[in-house]
Amino acid sequence: MTRDAMEYTAPFISIEGMDGAGKTSVLNSISAWVEQQGYPCMLTREPGGTPLAEEVRDLILAPREETMHPDTELLLMLAARNQHVKTHIQPLLAQGVWVISDRFYDASYAYQGGGRGMDMQRIHQLHDWVLADFQPQLTLLLDLPVNLGKARVAGRGEAETRFETEKLAFFEAVRSAYLARAYAEPERIVVIDASQTQTQVQAAIIACLEHRFLS
Ligand code: TYD
Repeated sequence: MTRDAMEYTAPFISIEGMDGAGKTSVLNSISAWVEQQGYPCMLTREPGGTPLAEEVRDLILAPREETMHPDTELLLMLAARNQHVKTHIQPLLAQGVWVISDRFYDASYAYQGGGRGMDMQRIHQLHDWVLADFQPQLTLLLDLPVNLGKARVAGRGEAETRFETEKLAFFEAVRSAYLARAYAEPERIVVIDASQTQTQVQAAIIACLEHRFLS
């Protein structure tokens, strides 16, 4: 392999936001757009994305009698992320496949840092170890008021995970932490107003992709 070929990696994009923000339709429209441009594209998610990481996901999300210590939750997230990045995402990017992930490391800062109130510096240290300087080229944060997100998911009738049973204050803290990260990294994290209609959100996403990758 030539040096140039070794250095080429396809873009890695993450989608963040709370339940009800419309991540699924955004993921689908991004993958359709990437394929229209003639590139291969793989959708994935966190926690999860490989068989082993999906097993860790089940451990993290399942409601249980035993209280999960916040450090345990964070370490399991990082264990799943390490497996996902090193055995799935990075090899795909190296082959020229665009990777779009439903959540990535910003979720740990938002949920474990913001929601659970864990020390952001500790979260940073763990990511430094697991990811070094690997990060998405672009992160789309689908932002909307907590109550609106809750109202949108109320009708879905899905089983609740350990996170979905949390109180309003938890989700307000998650939202604030996401927005703080977007404020600190405006080049990477683009905030999309997810309270708009699906058509408006999709138009905003496509405009962002065209600006980032075609101009
Ligand atoms: P999921 O049911 O997939 O929620 P959603 O459809 O909203 O993505 O569950 C994933 C949950 O895991 C979600 O509530 C956010 C949480 N999470 C963290 O707390 N930290 C993380 O680092 C990640 C990736 C997810």
